[in-house]
Amino acid sequence: MSNYHIKNLEEYFQVYRKSVREPENFWAEIAEEHFTWRKKWDNVLSWDFEKPEVKWFENAKLNITENCIDRHLLTRGDNTAIIWEPNDNSEKAQHITYNELHKKVNKFANVLKSKGIQKGDRVCIYLPMIPELAYAVLACARIGAIHSVVFAGFSSKALATRTLDADCKMMITSDGSYRGAKTLNLKNIVDEALEDCPDVSSVLVVKRTGEEINMKDGRDEWLAPLMEKASDDCAPEIVDAEDPLFILYTSGSTGKPKGMLHTTAGYMVYTAFTFKNIFNYTEGDVYWCTADIGWITGHSYIVYGPLANGATTVMFEGVPSYPDHGRFWQIVEKHKITQFYTAPTAIRALAKRNIEFVENHDLSSLKVLGSVGEPINEEAWHWFNDNIGKNHSPIVDTWWQTETGGIMISPMPYVTPTKPTYATLPMPGIQPSLMDDDGKEIKGNQVSGRLCVKFPWPSIARTVWGNHERYKDTYFSTFEGKYFTGDGAMRDEVGYYRITGRTDDVIIVSGHNLGTAPIEDAINEHPAVAESAVVGFPHDVKGNALYAFVILKESGESRKRDNLRKEIHQQISDKVGPIAKPDKIQFVEGLPKTRSGKIMRRILRKIASNDTSDLGDTSTLLNPEVVEAIIAEAL
Ligand code: WTA
Repeated sequence: MSNYHIKNLEEYFQVYRKSVREPENFWAEIAEEHFTWRKKWDNVLSWDFEKPEVKWFENAKLNITENCIDRHLLTRGDNTAIIWEPNDNSEKAQHITYNELHKKVNKFANVLKSKGIQKGDRVCIYLPMIPELAYAVLACARIGAIHSVVFAGFSSKALATRTLDADCKMMITSDGSYRGAKTLNLKNIVDEALEDCPDVSSVLVVKRTGEEINMKDGRDEWLAPLMEKASDDCAPEIVDAEDPLFILYTSGSTGKPKGMLHTTAGYMVYTAFTFKNIFNYTEGDVYWCTADIGWITGHSYIVYGPLANGATTVMFEGVPSYPDHGRFWQIVEKHKITQFYTAPTAIRALAKRNIEFVENHDLSSLKVLGSVGEPINEEAWHWFNDNIGKNHSPIVDTWWQTETGGIMISPMPYVTPTKPTYATLPMPGIQPSLMDDDGKEIKGNQVSGRLCVKFPWPSIARTVWGNHERYKDTYFSTFEGKYFTGDGAMRDEVGYYRITGRTDDVIIVSGHNLGTAPIEDAINEHPAVAESAVVGFPHDVKGNALYAFVILKESGESRKRDNLRKEIHQQISDKVGPIAKPDKIQFVEGLPKTRSGKIMRRILRKIASNDTSDLGDTSTLLNPEVVEAIIAEAL
């Protein structure tokens, strides 16, 4: 029997030791017992972090949708696979059974085929959180096409960059989307983006809001009539274990976003295993992750992980503040949610509201709470624990990344004793290490350093789409023979990990990773701007907020500057997306630079954080005099 479901701490340590001693046997047993294979693998693992190259379950044949849907039909075909909760709570929720999901996904897959989509083709999905988003993702996987989901809050430029980079043939979108009281016209954004993407020959449009939209002849079609006509029978395309499943873009500290490529078998095994253990999912539970499927959390822990376990997973279209700040808790009560997985930024925002929003609802169904996306501060942890978990639902603080595919460090509820702000212990199969700046591993406990992983796990991203060199440079070149996460961490006296945050120029704002470079590029494209630097500073709801220091070509009077601020915001909204708008824009005469011309961000970060007591030695700067001037006018 494989240890698919770990029941106590002693068992965890046993399983963990086995996963390190015999990683291949460990994962092979789990893969063998809990999944459907058309052909077994020839080799469990081959890897080389120098190249870098990682292959799991080589030459095995499977289809992930057969594992997420078909194999459940006999035993739980009438169970709910997806509960869809609409933006507006006067609209009816949908309960989609596994049988229905099977039909929808097959129909959608046949529509894709009828439009010429084949195995290996890239399909861009730009949809709000409606059931069609899940169907679209799974329909791609059904026929071996590679989905590239772009979060439907991104701008047309950001959508175009991603569509071009992945060389997508098709776009799946909707007329519009509902976000709280707002309605957004998505199709207009798509039309604008596609002006730059001539290779997208087909656009499928879901009707959601009834917006006025343009339909381009020969390119755009409504999805519903095509679904209606399509057969609900579609044999799954049998793919190789290492065939690509999806591309998902994540911000880098420099350059354009990186299309992280995930492959099929390892991703499936790892997300399913971690879902089961980290959320302690048992039959009959109703699991809700509040993320959007546009992010990795939604891919792994709304769609693939839960469905691979035959679970009931909730998809919520709306926002936590609509129609009021009790919406999350109303949904927990309405659907009797047992596992609730959300982000610290949402917790902090809701903790600021009247406690009556919580107290008006019966939250007694909850058994497990989860947090993801950024460090959870102590205050938010306790608020979540006391008011939502009522001190009896363990909080799983899950640390992981788009690149890791699944959760890497996390407590397991009722197994690992929790500790506020600590992601605690590595999952079986995960071998973290802390490194010092000289590239040496820091052994022992009560230490801190840069967080690496020294052995491959099944769901590690295999490359950056179209740029393997960048994959190597970003993740495998900082520390020899190790995957570098970009995060800093500490290990306490019992070996628990606490993630302290990014050590590079990625800033996490409200749980969204933002690279500073693309934001600076957007600012610099304004004709009045000479140069800029963007840094993060602590914010009590967003975790971090952005502070932009901008040098103008000509200094202007303050009225002009207010307009400039607006224009810069607009520029960033257009190029990157509204989430990247800085809270503060300070116009400066110069930026502190090293003698080799590099901007000293460390100093700017301190100024932005209003912590200028110890700026270190500024005398070695090329232009030490600008520091005082910037501080004098800091916002
Ligand atoms: C941060 C999200 C502290 C971290 C799944 C990581 C966290 C980045 C946590 C990845 C956590 C994620 N505690 N920090 N529990 N979870 N992070 O790719 O800096 O959107 O590198 O994946 O978020 O963000 P991404």
